Amino acid sequence: MSVFSPATRDRFERLAASYPQPRSALVPMLLYAQDELGYLPPEAIAEIAALLGETELAVREVIGYYSMLRTAPAGRYHVQVCTNISCMLRGGEEVLAHCQRRLGIHNRQTTPDGMFSIEEVECMGACAWAPALQVNYDFHQELDPAKVDEILEKYRRQG
Ligand code: FES
Repeated sequence: MSVFSPATRDRFERLAASYPQPRSALVPMLLYAQDELGYLPPEAIAEIAALLGETELAVREVIGYYSMLRTAPAGRYHVQVCTNISCMLRGGEEVLAHCQRRLGIHNRQTTPDGMFSIEEVECMGACAWAPALQVNYDFHQELDPAKVDEILEKYRRQG
């Protein structure tokens, strides 16, 4: 019995077969798995490891390397705030502090209604437009507290 939908399971089998080394499909599979389940629970890790002929430990090592992969549930809107050097120099730490104040939670916490979570992250490749944050797959750049408020409000209205 799979933890994934039939469509995702089919996609995994196609992905694994499309690389000379099935292991090369691991990161995209983890991203699709997280999109479907919201995070990567132990059953998902075990199933993906078996599909690729890898150990669960090898899969967990990859998950540990990438900050966008998580083994615990996050909010519907996962707010990742960069405080790496370019963002830090242009107010990234203030943006993070503002997000935390606005949402009433700290780094790696989720709001009680499950709508938002916050994570402080390393460089997201948007240094030229620092400070930046990412909500799920959406980038937001050149931030200040007023822009952060608009962004959070937009997602709150979306529900
Ligand atoms: S340092 Fe923040 S995006 Fe690069």
